[in-house]
Amino acid sequence: MIKHPFLKTSFLIFLVYFFLAGNGFADEKYDADSYGPETTIVWDQPAMTTFDHKTHTMDAGLECADCHDDLFVMETGAAVESNNFTMQAMAEGQFCGSCHDGDTAFATNTNCKACHAVSEEPLIWNEPTKVTFSHTSHTEDSGLDCENCHSEIFAMKKGAATANKNFTMVAFKDGQYCGSCHNGGDAFDSATQCESCHFPPEEKIIFTKPVKSVIFDHSIHVEKAKLSCESCHKQVFSMTVGTVENQELVISDNPAEKREYLINLHKKYCGTCHDSSQAFGYLTRCTVCHIGVKGLEEQTGQDTQKDAHKKSSH
Ligand code: HEC
Ligand code: HEC
Ligand code: HEC
Ligand code: HEC
Ligand code: HEC
Ligand code: HEC
Ligand code: HEC
Ligand code: HEC
Ligand code: HEC
Repeated sequence: MIKHPFLKTSFLIFLVYFFLAGNGFADEKYDADSYGPETTIVWDQPAMTTFDHKTHTMDAGLECADCHDDLFVMETGAAVESNNFTMQAMAEGQFCGSCHDGDTAFATNTNCKACHAVSEEPLIWNEPTKVTFSHTSHTEDSGLDCENCHSEIFAMKKGAATANKNFTMVAFKDGQYCGSCHNGGDAFDSATQCESCHFPPEEKIIFTKPVKSVIFDHSIHVEKAKLSCESCHKQVFSMTVGTVENQELVISDNPAEKREYLINLHKKYCGTCHDSSQAFGYLTRCTVCHIGVKGLEEQTGQDTQKDAHKKSSH
């Protein structure tokens, strides 16, 4: 019969459609002359807002004259053109607020979600790091209302938080911004699961200090080696370029001292994994990370091979 899976789903959708439409026919037919235009009116700036004639006329029993033309003229967009179509004006009893005052109908300072919708497209901040935030996963999947975040935690304007210097992980830990819920209680802790919010950089990072030679590629580590962001970013590196740059340089003529410094430097950073157990050892393959650096033995006059053995026998 219907073998192709796509055809099968279409057929199901078709059936469901008929079932729903069939039920609709059982109801009173919507008559635009008696109840006003059938299509939902949508204002899409700055907050997306919708208005249905049906819920007001057919369901709530209002007359055209309850709104037209004292509160609204019969033309989509007219209220917006007044430049005064704001929550403030509504709180003062104008527009929707003449009924939505908590008396005739629910007030405009509650139930934001009933009138406002959000874009399906996630918000993306690019600075200082690339982070994504999905409105729909918060309002639809987690059932939050707009006032859970707006406007005490976040302004309803993209970029408002990033304009503050303290829109940081440290502030989250203090319970601000995302951290007011992402505290391990109301939602997963923001000190975990970095990758649910953050994107790894696509471009290779080139360390230019203290020596211009090391290339680090996130994709090898995140996609190929399947490491979590925390495996590096919680203890070893911060998520901004510069950890190694801030490392104190030791310039010494004493080969043993210089050698010890180099070993410690490597052990402290990349060497936390590149120790010949979790990943190739830093003492064994200098040129996989470094381009054009002399071997450690040439730098220090000692034998790295022997040292690599000493290390792995620990
Ligand atoms: C609860 C308030 C309310 C009631 C009751 C109401 N309307 Fe409206 N109507 C609106 C609003 C709000 C708009 C959009 C105005 C704007 O964007 O400035 C609108 C717009 C319209 C438009 C213009 C649509 C367009 O596409 O430009 C028509 C036509 C209209 N209404 C007809 C009616 C009729 C007919 C009735 C009664 C059967 C009615 N309305 C009852 C609030 C109402
Ligand atoms: C009864 C319907 C209704 C409710 C409830 C409502 N709004 Fe609005 N809101 C509107 C309409 C209509 C507009 C004007 C059209 C637009 O900007 O999309 C608007 C505009 C806005 C705006 C942009 C204009 C301005 O005033 O700054 C913001 C922000 C806003 N609403 C936030 C909220 C928040 C937050 C809540 C809940 C506390 C809320 N609204 C509840 C209908 C409502
Ligand atoms: C003339 C009075 C009046 C005006 C003006 C009015 N409403 Fe309403 N509205 C009602 C009543 C009455 C109800 C039903 C009772 C309730 O839900 O509290 C209602 C219900 C609603 C609902 C809930 C519908 C549902 O599915 O339950 C929404 C959403 C809504 N109004 C949005 C708006 C918006 C947006 C505006 C302005 C563009 C507006 N209303 C203007 C009287 C009004
Ligand atoms: C879990 C928190 C949260 C909830 C719930 C939430 N928002 Fe937001 N919203 C945000 C954040 C974060 C921003 C971005 C603020 C910034 O960049 O400073 C934002 C921004 C916005 C913007 C501006 C978008 C732009 O492109 O400029 C609008 C409009 C908005 N929200 C509407 C809503 C509405 C309507 C609801 C309820 C249906 C809602 N929000 C619920 C967190 C939330
Ligand atoms: C008002 C509370 C609240 C605030 C504020 C909040 N969240 Fe959430 N968030 C939740 C809840 C509840 C869940 C679902 C439960 C869970 O995953 O622990 C969730 C889930 C998520 C998820 C997993 C679902 C998905 O979208 O993939 C991400 C990612 C996320 N939040 C990011 C953020 C970011 C980024 C911010 C700040 C811009 C933020 N949240 C602010 C409550 C909040
Ligand atoms: C709930 C979402 C969320 C989670 C989980 C999360 N972050 Fe963030 N992070 C953000 C947001 C939002 C910003 C600020 C906006 C931006 O940088 O674009 C940010 C900024 C940062 C910054 C730059 C600002 C600062 O604080 O120095 C660093 C570094 C950072 N995060 C590291 C991490 C690390 C490491 C983890 C995992 C241990 C993590 N983040 C987990 C949302 C999150
Ligand atoms: C194997 C270790 C490792 C893993 C795993 C890792 N990173 Fe990184 N990341 C680094 C290093 C090293 C730097 C550069 C740090 C420095 O210069 O101090 C860096 C820098 C960054 C930066 C700043 C880049 C810039 O150009 O400013 C971001 C953002 C970042 N990482 C995000 C992530 C995210 C998100 C994940 C998880 C999906 C992740 N990283 C996983 C090692 C790692
Ligand atoms: C959290 C552990 C961890 C840290 C920290 C880490 N790496 Fe890696 N790295 C791995 C793993 C696991 C592999 C894949 C297995 C392998 O190649 O031995 C890998 C692979 C590599 C490769 C690819 C090797 C090849 O054969 O293609 C390079 C290059 C590399 N890492 C460089 C670095 C540099 C540079 C740093 C420090 C900035 C670093 N890594 C920090 C775990 C880590
Ligand atoms: C897993 C990657 C990795 C391997 C393997 C590695 N290094 Fe490094 N090395 C680094 C990083 C990261 C730095 C610090 C960033 C920089 O200086 O560019 C560094 C820094 C250095 C420096 C500069 C220190 C300074 O302060 O002047 C020297 C010299 C050096 N490495 C030599 C070696 C030698 C020799 C080997 C092989 C025995 C080696 N490295 C293997 C990652 C690696």
